[in-house]
Amino acid sequence: MSETIKGDAFVDGRWLPGTARFPVKDPFDDTLIAEVTDADEAMVDAAVAAAARVFPTWKRRPAPERGKLLGQLGARMLSEERRLAELCTRENGKPIKEAIAEVRYAASFLTWFGAEASRIYGETIPASNPDQRLTVVREAIGPVAVITPWNFPYAMLTRKLGAALAAGCTVVAKPAEATPLGTLALADLAEDVGLPAGVFNVVPSSHGGKLGGYLLSRPQIRKISFTGSTEVGQQIMKNAAADLKRVSLELGGNAPFIVLADADLDAAVAGALVAKFRNSGQTCVAANRFIVEAPIADAFAEKLCAAVGKLVVGRGSDSATDIGPVIDNSAVEKIAGLVDDAVKRGATVLLGAPPDGKTRLIHPIVLAGITPEMALWRTEIFGPVIALRTAASEAEAIAQANDTEFGLVAYVYTRDGARQQRVAEALEAGMVGVNEGLVSTAQAPFGGIKHSGLGREGSRHGIDDYTNLKYIATRIG
Ligand code: SIN
Repeated sequence: MSETIKGDAFVDGRWLPGTARFPVKDPFDDTLIAEVTDADEAMVDAAVAAAARVFPTWKRRPAPERGKLLGQLGARMLSEERRLAELCTRENGKPIKEAIAEVRYAASFLTWFGAEASRIYGETIPASNPDQRLTVVREAIGPVAVITPWNFPYAMLTRKLGAALAAGCTVVAKPAEATPLGTLALADLAEDVGLPAGVFNVVPSSHGGKLGGYLLSRPQIRKISFTGSTEVGQQIMKNAAADLKRVSLELGGNAPFIVLADADLDAAVAGALVAKFRNSGQTCVAANRFIVEAPIADAFAEKLCAAVGKLVVGRGSDSATDIGPVIDNSAVEKIAGLVDDAVKRGATVLLGAPPDGKTRLIHPIVLAGITPEMALWRTEIFGPVIALRTAASEAEAIAQANDTEFGLVAYVYTRDGARQQRVAEALEAGMVGVNEGLVSTAQAPFGGIKHSGLGREGSRHGIDDYTNLKYIATRIG
């Protein structure tokens, strides 16, 4: 492994400079970090051909051996944690402490799926015919196209890559244009630990929609795993219908964060900080709509503002920073527009000030008096803005929470055990945090319902989408 930043495409075990390059810049100040290969269709064809060529060999390789390589890749990530985290902070802007947490989170998927590779069990079914034996085996689905977002460049890759390789699939990955360097750094480590050529390929692109569309349309690709916007996910699903490709979609969120009157308010504030401000508010699981039962609304807002006011906004590389820059200027404009709309429609600014559009560093804002007519009630904010609305009762809080087409995650704070269960069951979401602001972990199924997506990542369920069931009926008499 070299010390320099890898910027070439990685195809069939070779680093390809290509004929065109695109710049990757630090979102804090637009400093150039690297010039990266702008892959073209010929490169995609080569990557897909390699993934298809090695698939039969990789799939037949004993699962413990595949798992061991994944484990080794996870261990290498951890042993190079600081270097990988610094690269992540540079290309994504996130605070260094969060970048370190992301490297650990990403490595945990490789370790988890590395172990899980040996547990991809089949079934034996009792037959009604005594002369038959019925078995079910789980077979790797084939070469997979993986499209990852910029907000967690390592973890969103390894959550897919780990499951795919454990199952015996091969992968062609297209990272987000803003953050291809982490994916290329991982390919470098994969080469180093001895992953065979062609098993994991990376095709960076500055015209991701077009090249990604080309990649997904290749007939050898049998499964697509995408994390990104609902609109793009819907288009991918439509296009995948032509070849009936399997699709996993991890899409947008609009998470409610409910604080009921009997909640431990200090715990709720601590949970709110994690659920809202991780990655400067740029996560699909970010708490987007705070719904607080009326009797404790003022007390919660006061404690929340006191805690939020202490967060340090600054350059991600400074160890004290809690909130780094948002990814680009269009993110600033979107956030500013949502805050502006809310204030014009009557929201009260409890803390902070609307962004002035001059910097990507957005100081956290707390808004109260949110109503459903405000755009931020329906829109994924993806920035450090807290929107507070009150509810008169538990039932009203649930109704408000479910008033969205999204259903990725929901959070609820209450001390009452029966309420915890009742509200968690009533919330329309794929995941629920009960007195917990961070649900993401390798062992648990991550994914949404409604417009938040299809399929699950992480956990043993995360492997299911990379396998086909094959039923075998054998006559023995
Ligand atoms: C995401 O924002 O897409 C995922 C965040 C997580 O895994 O916690």
